[in-house]
Amino acid sequence: MSTVASADFDYIAALVRDEAAIVIEPSKAYLVESRLSPVARRHGQGSIAEVVSRLRNGDRKLRTEVIEAMTTNETSWFRDVHPFEALHRHVIPELVKRRSQRRQITIWCGAASTGQEPYSVAMLLADRHPELANWNLRIIATDISGEVLGKAMAGRYSQMEVNRGLPAPVLAKHFRRDGADWVLSDRIRNMVEFRMLNLVGSWPVLPPVDVVFLRNVLIYFDLPTKRAILSRVRGAMQEDGYLFLGAPETTLNLDDAFRRVAFDKTSCYQRNDMGAGR
Ligand SMILES: C[S@@+](CC[C@H](N)C(=O)[O-])C[C@H]1O[C@@H](n2cnc3c(N)ncnc32)[C@H](O)[C@@H]1O
Repeated sequence: MSTVASADFDYIAALVRDEAAIVIEPSKAYLVESRLSPVARRHGQGSIAEVVSRLRNGDRKLRTEVIEAMTTNETSWFRDVHPFEALHRHVIPELVKRRSQRRQITIWCGAASTGQEPYSVAMLLADRHPELANWNLRIIATDISGEVLGKAMAGRYSQMEVNRGLPAPVLAKHFRRDGADWVLSDRIRNMVEFRMLNLVGSWPVLPPVDVVFLRNVLIYFDLPTKRAILSRVRGAMQEDGYLFLGAPETTLNLDDAFRRVAFDKTSCYQRNDMGAGR
């Protein structure tokens, strides 16, 4: 049971929907309480009602913190394994053939959270694709939250965080211990460019993208928002690019201009108008 007054819940839900398109159902009112109580304490406020009152008075900094606190940043290394295997076994080899002239591959992680996803991609390319050594590889990682991007850029993870999906040899190869934490090597860190991008806001200019990871973020949006984002993502992709979504997500019944491409134990999506590639 949440103790947040319904008018305060409505205010927060509307704010988060307007700014980030994230839908919080009334049944999830407890989330408002559990996530905003620490924000309230940080700002010396005794209650969420006081936070809402400051928001109503136009406190911009608090507004950003509230939106960030209401995002779910759950992530892990090589999450779900199979998309990364598909990237390694099928997508990269295909792109190596198709891009042999330009020797350039751009990968975009559109909801990168604290960095585990783009860094997993970077380690996979570094460790398992030596043929790309002299290629121009760009891994662009974006998120709405400056807080998670800051953590991602720092490349510093707790033991608990590295325990989630990082194989021991990969940990040993790319991280060094620093006190209780693990710090990612500069080599891998420098492979990833981080930027702020709100999927429902105006986007910074992106180069045409060969592979999009847009995983475990569409689930937070309503149908029209999912459709609008998928259409914009399609526009950002090379004609023969690949889109990976999260396990519970699909383009089916949302965007007919994508077709599903099955790999061994997973699938991704390609544009229906796919041509010969650029
Ligand atoms: C559950 S995490 C997924 C992380 C990673 N893609 C994965 O699958 O492990 C969802 C991420 O989406 C971000 N997010 C939520 N709404 C967003 C929006 N409107 N624009 C961009 N990112 C958003 C959150 O900040 C959060 O880091």
